[in-house]
Amino acid sequence: MRYFIDTYGCQMNEYDSGLIASMMEENGCLPTEDPAEADFFFFNTCSIREKAEETAIARISKMTYYKKKRDGIKFIVTGCMAKHLGARLVERVRAIDFVIGPDNYKKIPEVLFSHPVPVIKRTLSKRIITDFNEEENYLGETAKISTPISSYITIQRGCNKHCSYCIVPYVRGPEKYRNPSDVIREVTLAAEKGVSEITLLGQTVNAYKSSDMDFADLLLKVSEVKGIHRVRFMSPHPKHYTEKLIDILLSIPQICPHAHIPLQSGSDRILKKMHRQHTLDEFMCILEKFRGKDPFYGLTTDIITGFVGEEKEDFEATLQAVKDAQFDAAFMFSYSPREGTESAKETEVLSEEEKQARLETLVELQNNITLERNKLMIGRTEEVLVERPSTKNSSEWVGKTGNFKKIIFSSNSAKPGDYILCHIDSVRGWTLRGTPTIK
Ligand code: SAH
Ligand code: SF4
Ligand code: F3S
Repeated sequence: MRYFIDTYGCQMNEYDSGLIASMMEENGCLPTEDPAEADFFFFNTCSIREKAEETAIARISKMTYYKKKRDGIKFIVTGCMAKHLGARLVERVRAIDFVIGPDNYKKIPEVLFSHPVPVIKRTLSKRIITDFNEEENYLGETAKISTPISSYITIQRGCNKHCSYCIVPYVRGPEKYRNPSDVIREVTLAAEKGVSEITLLGQTVNAYKSSDMDFADLLLKVSEVKGIHRVRFMSPHPKHYTEKLIDILLSIPQICPHAHIPLQSGSDRILKKMHRQHTLDEFMCILEKFRGKDPFYGLTTDIITGFVGEEKEDFEATLQAVKDAQFDAAFMFSYSPREGTESAKETEVLSEEEKQARLETLVELQNNITLERNKLMIGRTEEVLVERPSTKNSSEWVGKTGNFKKIIFSSNSAKPGDYILCHIDSVRGWTLRGTPTIK
């Protein structure tokens, strides 16, 4: 038997796909990347914006082609859209056999392997398993590693913030934290398999706490694991960048000089309406702490344009904030109302065209800033983690600097997982080009 997994959305879904893969393999199932030979199709989905759901539904519908060709194939939808749409998904795509929410993955083997009753005869309610489970932290589980170089490790699930636009708290449930010893166990196992870069994950990852540790303490512990050379984290919330955390981020060599700090909007009025719990000034103070110490510190962000009630002045405040912040890169989105959220109750005034136009203006501004920030790197020598050969030229390699920039360089001896020093020569497109130097 073979399984195929299609993953959408954030890194937390990537990690969860690794959990599902491990459970399938423990039950004797092998992975495949070719849908034509799969018996189990997993669609690990995202609900963050309407488009994310529509993309996944279109793909699942398309994949029914394989299901029609052979008997016994099962379609399982997991992830946030499973929780959000539940039975409505099966109404839209009849071929779906099971809908399993983010707290229910441990039931997958039982559901797939221990029921003699043909799926078709089972009632719909038995096929929709999406209840929240406050206790479920997947303790003791080890997610399958997707690359032998760099690994994601989830340390926090759910979210308590209830930003007014966001569906995550409704599809992932309240915040819960994995205990530190289980985190260290998984990091150690990954390191033993050759992973040297770890990214700790949570929707407000820096809010992490256990009975005796906060996020900064856990970062320290992870960076002390033998074989771990780089530590990153995603996605932090501005409110939880404490003095202690910033001090540790700036002082521990294994922690990469890159912070993702989601801005969402540059207007205090909109930040308040979004329930982001900070002002623009407080946000800028955090950036200053990093760039004051290291002007090359990598800073990235998320921004939403056309949020409900966003006036022209609010949008202009966002553009100004982006100019002031000089982010290295940004993920930028047009606001998408999500069912059940506070802001979805308000009628939108802006047309889709206007929202799109604002997004394009912002993207153009940020693209120029990204280019300028990358050009500043020319002449520096940076440590690069080698990831893979370039797809365009087999003598070239793709890697990442500590401050999270992609770099391409030529080498006859590099291999994935190596750390090499690279002199940065130029910027082509947005990408750094470098030459390896002797370490
Ligand atoms: N927990 C993270 C965000 C996770 S979602 C945080 O608080 O920063 C990733 C990004 O998607 C968000 O930062 C936001 O910019 C965007 N996003 C979330 N909901 C959205 C919506 N309804 N419409 C458009 N973008 C949205
Ligand atoms: Fe969504 Fe806000 Fe939670 Fe991030 S912090 S996941 S944006 S509710
Ligand atoms: Fe999407 Fe769920 Fe992540 S909504 S962004 S997959 S937590």
